[in-house]
Amino acid sequence: MLANEDSPAYIPGAFHAAVPRIAESFRSGAGMGWHEHDDAVFHGCEKFFRPSYAANLISSWIPSLQGVQAKLEAGAKVADVGCGKGASTVLMAKAFPKSQFFGFDYHDKSIEGARATSTKEGLEVRLNFGVAKAKGFPGQGLRLGYGLRLSPRHG
Ligand SMILES: C[S@@+](CC[C@H](N)C(=O)[O-])C[C@H]1O[C@@H](n2cnc3c(N)ncnc32)[C@H](O)[C@@H]1O
Repeated sequence: MLANEDSPAYIPGAFHAAVPRIAESFRSGAGMGWHEHDDAVFHGCEKFFRPSYAANLISSWIPSLQGVQAKLEAGAKVADVGCGKGASTVLMAKAFPKSQFFGFDYHDKSIEGARATSTKEGLEVRLNFGVAKAKGFPGQGLRLGYGLRLSPRHG
């Protein structure tokens, strides 16, 4: 991945294409928040990954997790932490109508997009999105329609 330039997984070329800010973040180790990207990245990420989720998540990935499909079919509560614009959350909510889905992401613009999709798809009854950091994920006491009790965006 890092050393063999002929490997199909060779990745360093991506860093030549990266904007200087990203390259510097790797060098310094300071990192870069998702919210600091250009808006096109949020939309591009969803457009890039959603087709492979649509092709694999319900038909292949979930069935490969022992016992998970049966739980989702029977009715479970699911948290999609770091859900972005909700591409995976929406697919699951559609496929498992007896389950309730809660998508969380610290990036408020992505959650706005996810909520818009949920409304457009008529899924609000079983699907709710909220702004929360992974560490602030409430974990308990979630009830659809009552609003999610979440920590502040950067808390
Ligand atoms: C590569 S995107 C993937 C989004 C979505 N899961 C998908 O597959 O389309 C990563 C997401 O993780 C979110 N994220 C990163 N760190 C997070 C944290 N500490 N708490 C909550 N969300 C986080 C980002 O805001 C971003 O939306």
